[in-house]
Amino acid sequence: QKLKINLEQIEKGGFDHFMLKEIHEQPKAITDTYRGRLLRQEAIIKMAGVEDNMKKFLNADRIIIVACGTSWHAGLVAEYIFEDLARVPVEVEYASEFRYRNPIITEKDVLIAISQSGETADTLAAIKLAKSKGAFVFGVCNVVGSSIARETHAGAYTHAGPEIGVASTKAFTTQITVLTLIALRLARAKGTISSSDFRHHLLELEMIPKKVEESLKSDAHIQKISEIYKDVSNFLYLGRGYNFPVALEGALKLKEISYIHAEGYPAAEMKHGPIALIDENMPIVVIATKKGHYEKVVSNIQEIKSRKGKIIGIVTEGDTQVRELADHVIEVPETLESLSPLLTTIPLQLLSYHIAVMLGKNVDQPRNLAKSVTVE
Ligand code: G6P
Repeated sequence: QKLKINLEQIEKGGFDHFMLKEIHEQPKAITDTYRGRLLRQEAIIKMAGVEDNMKKFLNADRIIIVACGTSWHAGLVAEYIFEDLARVPVEVEYASEFRYRNPIITEKDVLIAISQSGETADTLAAIKLAKSKGAFVFGVCNVVGSSIARETHAGAYTHAGPEIGVASTKAFTTQITVLTLIALRLARAKGTISSSDFRHHLLELEMIPKKVEESLKSDAHIQKISEIYKDVSNFLYLGRGYNFPVALEGALKLKEISYIHAEGYPAAEMKHGPIALIDENMPIVVIATKKGHYEKVVSNIQEIKSRKGKIIGIVTEGDTQVRELADHVIEVPETLESLSPLLTTIPLQLLSYHIAVMLGKNVDQPRNLAKSVTVE
């Protein structure tokens, strides 16, 4: 028994939980994921699975993304980046809904399945369905040799390394990294991005691990914020554009490990319902980074403030406008809007982690949840 405990401590590498270790591994995991693929000097992206099937990607009428849970949120981020940069229509579907609704799939569709474990039953079934209709199926998995990796026509692995914590962290950011690389590669091939813009993206993506490291330095500050809100029963998370899926993911993280009810919403949808919930007891996490609808998010924050909601703003370094309105701000370094989810996600992971620890929950193995869901 003693030996087992010691072994586990070694595996946790000095961190109290696997989740915290994995949150801190993200700079390395993201670097491992783009290593050998992002060649900045040559200004190219090299991904065999994409290169070998370039015709299929370029001839695609649309890309359908299927996934579950956190991987589905990575798919939503990918929708923004694929449409924005590569100008290809994208649909993002819960694998479980897609497989049972007699979907229209043709040989001109490309289906991208995202799965950390590569074993999720619904995602696997969606792949089989798409294959039977003649679609080209591409996998984005973390576990090498997993069922989904084997069932797909081609794919690209995330190189996150083993993820033990049930609540996904580094798998999410590395999925976004892989999907960003694919979108950039396609954009270049299609000519929908200029050469200078492409280079700029490569440079910024290469700097993300350093900036994730910077973002992790807010840990102690986030711990203090967690202490203030750990006993509430509800949380709202708001974001727009690229950061709307991040709001969903932030809310999911909190639900999963602290069992506090949390909802993510596009900030502008607040007025169509969630605003009714806002009073002085409601903490609202608002992603309000400088690039991307900043002024609109600021006006959403003003609406929250006039209803006395407690505002936790995720802002760009040096921000002053949100700081004036919010109860707390957590800074992340500046980057391109399309890459901002890779940074804004970090404080939300830490917030949920600290709240769950303070509430004495089993962070790595939350009740009722499984790391890999092989049943439907
Ligand atoms: C489970 C896990 C989640 C994960 C989801 C999809 O619910 O607890 O963390 O996001 O399955 O898993 P996958 O392995 O397909 O990414």
